[in-house]
Amino acid sequence: RIFKRNKMKKYLVIGNPIDHSLSPKLHNFWIKQNNINAIYNKKKLNDDEIKNLILDIRENKISGINVTVPFKNKVIPFLDELSLGAKQTQSVNTIFMKDNKVIGDNTDIGGFESAIKKLDFDLSKKTAFILGAGGVVPSIIYALLKMGVSKILISNRTETKAENIKKLFNNIQIVSWGEIPEFDIIINGTSVGLDNNDQIGLDFSKVGKNKLFYDVIYNPNQTNFLKTAKQLGNKFENGKLMFIFQALLSFKLWHNLEPEVNDKTMKLLDV
Ligand code: ATR
Repeated sequence: RIFKRNKMKKYLVIGNPIDHSLSPKLHNFWIKQNNINAIYNKKKLNDDEIKNLILDIRENKISGINVTVPFKNKVIPFLDELSLGAKQTQSVNTIFMKDNKVIGDNTDIGGFESAIKKLDFDLSKKTAFILGAGGVVPSIIYALLKMGVSKILISNRTETKAENIKKLFNNIQIVSWGEIPEFDIIINGTSVGLDNNDQIGLDFSKVGKNKLFYDVIYNPNQTNFLKTAKQLGNKFENGKLMFIFQALLSFKLWHNLEPEVNDKTMKLLDV
């Protein structure tokens, strides 16, 4: 009788920088919880290393990759097939093999959608205002459209980057940086707030009440953007659940298991 040893599966998150990624902590927690023979590591990458890493997926040396800034778009030329969401957003955060093909998927979309759905804030027919034009913004736009918002406005310090996003989504409107239009939900998709002292430098004093201020940042858990929202009597939420749900959706694609999200999961990410 042949004894076949189960080989430990390898997973990775790639980015640059990558030091602060909490993906290994979360995935390894769920891997252990589900008795899976696997390990999830992080790897700082240079552009010229993408190709060989995808080859490792093809040759089954690595079972799955999460992709973060600045590679979400750069990995695309090396993949065989994209999910619908990954294709339209031109961003991939999850890679795996299926039917002998290297697939790129985007779970940031579902992550944002699940996080908003937990909040009991109905987005249908509402106006969304997005700040920033970085890696995660196309995914947020895709999710907002899926949730039925009627209008999407986007503003970025460097306007040409907002124009590039408009090429992916015809119906969004660009707002000059510094202008605050009327909105129901505002999303900070910039990196402003990662440092506790960061100020976005926009005047929200006239936005009114009962708006939702959403920050993709979850560490620190309350940026000045969210503090301002609170002071002005608005609803606010950080990006922690979005992060957890995008991880969960990747986990589901790779392991076909859906971990429970509870207080323990939330606490795991307190740094
Ligand atoms: P990348 O641009 O590589 O995708 P990111 O962290 O996803 O990186 O995006 C950073 C976002 O934060 C950008 O929208 C950036 O604006 P610019 O395109 O003008 O650089 C925004 N950002 C960073 N610092 C900012 C600041 N001090 N004020 C306003 N926006 C800022």
